[in-house]
Amino acid sequence: MQKVLIIDFGGQYIQLIARVVREHNVYCEILPWTADFERIKAFNADAIIFSGGPHSVYEEGAPKISDKVFELNVPILGICYGMQYLAHTLGGKVDTAPVSEYGKQTVKFTKGRLTHALSKSSVCWMSHTDYISQVPNGFTVVGKTEGCPVAAMENVDKNIYGVQFHPEVKHTVEGRQLIKTFLFDICGLKGDWNIGNFVNESVEALRKKIGNKRVLCALSGGVDSAVAATLIHKAVGKQLICVFVDHGLMRKDEAKEVVRVFGEERGFNLVAVNAEERFLNRLKGVEEPEAKRKIIGEEFIRVFEEQAKKIGTVDFLVQGTIYPDVIESGSATGDTIKSHHNVGGLPSVVQFDEIIEPLRDLFKDEVREVGRALGLPDHIVDRQPFPGPGLAIRVIGDITKEKLDILRDADYIFRSEIAKAGLDKEIWQYFAVLTNSRTVGVIGDHRTYRYTLALRGVTSTDGMTADWARIPFDVLETISNHICNNVKGVGRVVYDITAKPPATIEWE
Ligand code: XMP
Repeated sequence: MQKVLIIDFGGQYIQLIARVVREHNVYCEILPWTADFERIKAFNADAIIFSGGPHSVYEEGAPKISDKVFELNVPILGICYGMQYLAHTLGGKVDTAPVSEYGKQTVKFTKGRLTHALSKSSVCWMSHTDYISQVPNGFTVVGKTEGCPVAAMENVDKNIYGVQFHPEVKHTVEGRQLIKTFLFDICGLKGDWNIGNFVNESVEALRKKIGNKRVLCALSGGVDSAVAATLIHKAVGKQLICVFVDHGLMRKDEAKEVVRVFGEERGFNLVAVNAEERFLNRLKGVEEPEAKRKIIGEEFIRVFEEQAKKIGTVDFLVQGTIYPDVIESGSATGDTIKSHHNVGGLPSVVQFDEIIEPLRDLFKDEVREVGRALGLPDHIVDRQPFPGPGLAIRVIGDITKEKLDILRDADYIFRSEIAKAGLDKEIWQYFAVLTNSRTVGVIGDHRTYRYTLALRGVTSTDGMTADWARIPFDVLETISNHICNNVKGVGRVVYDITAKPPATIEWE
């Protein structure tokens, strides 16, 4: 398989570079600049990209890598800091720019190997305070702006290229074309990596690795565990045992759907545990959000442990780890890999030999594509993020079955109407929250005293920050009417217009 290696110099767009390369059907991985040369060499890259980063090449401790990388004889593209690093290392000159460039800038290109397919003048995204004042010997300038004499440079003989702007950012109008030129014209890559191949190769590899051994997977109803399990099931069928713990805190019909899709339709070896009563008993009277989370986490482990004991020792335990959880950050001081357990604590209660992570090389949207390729239904593949503690943190204050049912019905109406209005793709996450406050209303001649339901809809890319979604008033009106008319127990509907920060996405 042809592979591109991206060296992370601490840039904020690192994952975007990888996404753009993969969109061109070329496989790539990211390594931090702190990775030693042996590791870089062992990767056996067909091309290397140096990312941007927040540093100046003159700063003490500025990111750098072994010069031996230039002896690997593979094409190199430096982006922003990556290009400055190339210039600095290869004998050019980097200075503080008299005027920093930030945002959209017009770059004038001359025809070069890297730039031949670009317009003479094109809008590019810049973000730099240093610039190259003199290119190293053998390099030609093939792009400049008014304030930046070297916006693009190349040394065709040595196969080394650099751009000061960010081709991976969509504001760079011809950025994708530039990366395409680098990957295909310059590096001669074929672009033959795709999800279909990934599925076939993974299934083959999983069969080989697992042989006739047993695999255990905690199925949560979420995208990652669903896709991981389906991939393994395709490879080894009934040797995969899935345990699904229904804590009674899922959305309307979700638990039934897991059993239907995986147990009935696909014939998984599925152990579905109805633990609703247990969870609700333990949560009785608990109001504090962190206490709820802790109880749910502990109880989940306990239920799972009981099942695992019945199943006995297995050879592998599946984790739904995906690539963003694995990427080591270039700005980190060491090579610490974030350890991510989407079912935290499980490994300590299951007897197994090895963890298996079939999705660890994929980004979230690639995981969804794999799910689609495996024929999983849209409602599982496109499922919005859903917190592990489920509706327990969307029923404010103490939790009862009655409140959960009210919330489930209202949430279902909200989600259905958003889909009907065609807004389900643009709103990142949307759900209902049952507040702990009851208010007075009137129906016919009767006074009512019912709960206030809050609707939350946010736009976001990663959940770290978010804005409230501008849902049209007429859609909100329809939702409010439907909920008040159909869900007994809700007497008032409000819409949450708080961004994150200062609020969080969930209410608890
Ligand atoms: P907050 O509320 O912190 O949420 O702004 C950010 C994103 O994370 C989800 N979330 C959770 N996911 N376990 C999870 O797996 C949790 O305990 C949890 N709490 C919040 C939330 O839905 C949002 O997408």
